[in-house]
Amino acid sequence: MYSSFLFIVTLPPILLATNNFIDDYLDDAKIKYDNANKRVKRNFVLTSYSNQDIPETSTFDFIVVGSGSAGAVVANRLTETNFSVLLLEVGEEAVEITDVPVLAPLFQFTDLNWNYLMEKEDNMCLGLVDQRMAWPRGRALGGTSIINYMIHVRGNKQDYNRWEKMGNPGWSYRDVFKYFIKSEDFLVKQQDKGYHATGGYLGVQDVAFRTESVHAFVKAAQEAGHPFVDYNGRKQMGVSYVHATTRRGLRSSAEAAFLRPIRDRKNLKILTKSRATRVLIDGHRRAFGVEFLKDGKYHTAMANKEVILSAGAFNSPQLLMLSGIGPRRHLQELGIPLVQDLPVGRKMYDHITFLGLIFTVNQSIVSDQSVLEQPVNFLKLVLRGEGPLTTLGGVEALMYFKTKESDDPSPYPDMELIFISGGMHTDKGLFYRKTFRITDEIYNKVWKPLEDKYAWQVLPMLVHPKSYGFLELKSKNPFHWPKFHGNFFTDAGNKDVKTFIAAIREVQRMAKMPAWQKYGAQLVTTPIPGCEHNIFDSDDYWECALRHVTATLHHQVATCKMGPRTDPEAVVNHELKVYGVRNLRVADTSVIPIPITAHTNVPAYMIGEKAADLIKAEWL
Ligand SMILES: Cc1cc2nc3c(=O)[nH]c(=O)nc-3n(C[C@H](O)[C@H](O)[C@H](O)COP(=O)(O)OP(=O)(O)OC[C@H]3O[C@@H](n4cnc5c(N)ncnc54)[C@H](O)[C@@H]3O)c2cc1C
Ligand SMILES: *[C@@H]1O[C@H](CO)[C@@H](O)[C@H](O)[C@H]1NC(C)=O
Ligand SMILES: *[C@@H]1O[C@H](CO)[C@@H](O)[C@H](O)[C@H]1NC(C)=O
Repeated sequence: MYSSFLFIVTLPPILLATNNFIDDYLDDAKIKYDNANKRVKRNFVLTSYSNQDIPETSTFDFIVVGSGSAGAVVANRLTETNFSVLLLEVGEEAVEITDVPVLAPLFQFTDLNWNYLMEKEDNMCLGLVDQRMAWPRGRALGGTSIINYMIHVRGNKQDYNRWEKMGNPGWSYRDVFKYFIKSEDFLVKQQDKGYHATGGYLGVQDVAFRTESVHAFVKAAQEAGHPFVDYNGRKQMGVSYVHATTRRGLRSSAEAAFLRPIRDRKNLKILTKSRATRVLIDGHRRAFGVEFLKDGKYHTAMANKEVILSAGAFNSPQLLMLSGIGPRRHLQELGIPLVQDLPVGRKMYDHITFLGLIFTVNQSIVSDQSVLEQPVNFLKLVLRGEGPLTTLGGVEALMYFKTKESDDPSPYPDMELIFISGGMHTDKGLFYRKTFRITDEIYNKVWKPLEDKYAWQVLPMLVHPKSYGFLELKSKNPFHWPKFHGNFFTDAGNKDVKTFIAAIREVQRMAKMPAWQKYGAQLVTTPIPGCEHNIFDSDDYWECALRHVTATLHHQVATCKMGPRTDPEAVVNHELKVYGVRNLRVADTSVIPIPITAHTNVPAYMIGEKAADLIKAEWL
């Protein structure tokens, strides 16, 4: 059995966290997290990937850059044939402890995270350290699927039908459905017939352990008129216990699901600690290889057939621009010779959430951090895949609904609610609130008094924001961070703020239902510091609070947008080929053209599956 009692051995060190982390790659290491000293040095690795040095130049059929959710699938499916594939990844193999779902927030404090920060924005993030939002990203074999929360959502049928209508044939829900099916081993109990499959690489389960509070949430939602649904099935609108990307209670990451089972394939070469710095493109605008740095040395790998960028929504656009593919003026200003003028990074959508919607109850029906201290819970997890450690960092249920702000006549949600059986106070402010960079002042005022009470939170997520930002390079140095501009809450009609407020009102209504009132559920009325001048619970108050404690849920998309040639924003076509350059595709969340009614991990797997099929269709 892969998982072992080593969890128990590793937990204390990870909680005590040392500061002997050395980052040899990031130039921006200076701009570290405020608690960089909580970083953890990884001192052992269990899975053995052959990872020998390679000659300074070698040749493969395909080179895949990035081993995250999408890249791992592409590498897996392409090596089902006799094609040779090189998979390059900056990060390393993660330690096993990352498999424990309840610990999900911890890994943002390790070198498994790129640790990006958003640029400062006016009148936004006012309650966050340095007014800068944390934009974590996975940096490991398995990419962001190593540090994510394992919430499993495909998205709404209309999401994909809209992609197709925008001029992307082959991407309607009907078309992509087979790829969701292909990946999954779906074992959720309350599921719609005909919508799921078993036997795939990716584990999907119910969370084995549920607190009393999630039952109250699900029941109250139904009392308020929201049906119970399989949100990955026939209809998405309604409430449900969360579906988890786990297998036997442990994280089913891209690495565990798609790479570990095939690591002995002779035609797959995986190189970790290898950072691609440039796609090599010849005078005929044909991609023929990748330049990368490993062990302080530059190497060149050649691709007979194609280079596939799966470096994620930040690093795929970065690599394109470093290789001369991007907005003409921007590249000229940075002194990067232009290969192809394309709007790379010019538009970036994201999903944000409000952190300040908290309710107390009068009984211990919520998550309890002391479960971490009881060794029996580790045994339950390791031996049976059960117990409180299988909880997805406290996330227990989801709900999709349409607020009164929506002008869409069809059953298309504009909001998702994420139910957490606890909140920033549950771990006494140690990790969770720091992942969001909530300041001490705000934490101490709002959450600290809840540390000895019972409280739960709902995180509303705006699924189809009107505001959007962009991404650009800071310089032509491949080791510099890109600059991330969120531009949240900047849409002309202030519709994004209004939709959030409508969602807050709906949660308040749900909290008044009998299922919650049984436990005396009450809204926490401590005003967010900085918003005391507003009348508590007025729309103005909530807008102020939104501008103080809003965070990303890490679903940045569209930085290498997929679209038809006639779309001035498009970077790749419906076959994910970069316009104007041959033998170069992008396959990851950066191609998602518009925000979807989902978290982006499962869509990334789907994109990987579909990309592999498109590539096989071309070369087999
Ligand atoms: C904290 C957090 C929680 C999340 N929770 C959820 C959730 O619960 N459910 C959900 O559906 N989604 C969640 N997401 C989002 C989801 O995990 C990601 O959208 C998804 O994993 C992205 O897949 P990807 O293939 O596009 O990129 P990634 O998985 O990010 O993979 C990109 C890979 O490329 C590597 N790379 C980058 N640059 C280079 C380079 N130059 N050379 C070599 N390698 C490179 C990176 O290190 C990384 O491994 C979460 C994200 C975060 C950050
Ligand atoms: C793969 O197999 C096909 C058919 O069996 C053969 O024509 C081709 O040369 C092989 N390719 C490689 C890279 O071995
Ligand atoms: C909690 O509140 C409810 C509703 O007011 C009440 O019926 C119940 O007795 C309370 N329980 C406790 C333990 O105080």
